[in-house]
Amino acid sequence: MDTQQFIPNSLQKNTNTLSFTWKTPSNIALVKYWGKTDPQIPKNASISFTLSNSHTITTINFTAKKSSDSQQGDITFELFFEGKKKEDFKPKIAKFFDRIQEYCPYIIAYDMVISSENSFPHSSGIASSASGMSAIAMCLMSLEQTLSTIVLSDEFINKKASFLARLGSGSASRSIEGPLVVWGNHPEIKGSSDLFGVQFPYEVHEIFHHYQDAILLVDKGEKQVSSTVGHDLMHNHPFATQRFDQANENLTKISQILQNGDIDSFINLVESEALSLHAMMLTSNPYFILMKPNTLEIINAIWQYRNETGSKICFTLDAGANVHVLYPEIESKKVLQFIENELSKFCQKNQYICDVVGLGAVKL
Ligand code: DP6
Repeated sequence: MDTQQFIPNSLQKNTNTLSFTWKTPSNIALVKYWGKTDPQIPKNASISFTLSNSHTITTINFTAKKSSDSQQGDITFELFFEGKKKEDFKPKIAKFFDRIQEYCPYIIAYDMVISSENSFPHSSGIASSASGMSAIAMCLMSLEQTLSTIVLSDEFINKKASFLARLGSGSASRSIEGPLVVWGNHPEIKGSSDLFGVQFPYEVHEIFHHYQDAILLVDKGEKQVSSTVGHDLMHNHPFATQRFDQANENLTKISQILQNGDIDSFINLVESEALSLHAMMLTSNPYFILMKPNTLEIINAIWQYRNETGSKICFTLDAGANVHVLYPEIESKKVLQFIENELSKFCQKNQYICDVVGLGAVKL
């Protein structure tokens, strides 16, 4: 695979203190990524809506090391999360920097101070690693652009940022652009790659424009299963091969659905994907039930509401108990009333986040 394109070769020194700030969104997968091989290569292609209100804002300050220090080869950084030093996040970021050093050799010349904040609770089942890693990747690309003796195109910057973000967290590769991003090589999707996410390359039916996602916070606690442990469960899983085939077939189907606007098929596919993801956890060993009783209450209430009203709402889940309620913009008023009246009681402290599909990373 062509990773050579991501190794920079025309860089100049810059001993100024440099600082970049990026806001990058979370995303919600419609066809799920679950299972990978080294180095962060997905077992199947996935597709997600990029969100907008659920985001991370990250600033990285780069201070040039004295030249003797920069020969040492150590990557040095401090990490602040919501204003406080965060030692427990450091190993994951350190591993990330090790992985990307080949592609970003310039990071060794700087002391980095990373300051990050999320618009949503950490480890709430909202993909904080996706927005977190993509924000760092964008800051690094801003540094690379400053150090580069040639002008980097926006297309290259986004592609490499997605490539870098993937090495931090797979789903982060889908948090650079929007509104729909595919990650993973797939015959149906022109330009798709296991190395980085690409924008869904076909015209999307208007029913899916400005799609809404209300994230119902059923359980805001730390995740029961980290994604690293979760993905590992797919090694030697009895249904792994079938699952990877199913996901790739679902990607073929959803590509058509997104273009032709067949919303009933969309609902069927998206809900089936969510339940298939959880089925993998129910049938792995060790096994996990990541849904909570209130997750099921919400799913049943959504099905009943759909039967009674003909609404086109549906749900999806990540590897946790929270429920993402997806619906077309034209239904916003009614669905929000339904959520407030019927679903919020199943959320911790009645909390939910109203989000909408967005366009990706923004430089601040
Ligand atoms: C269930 O991207 O968090 O959200 O690559 O180990 O960081 P790592 O995993 P991660 O996995 C996300 C899995 C998922 C489905 C998805 O977003 O596609």
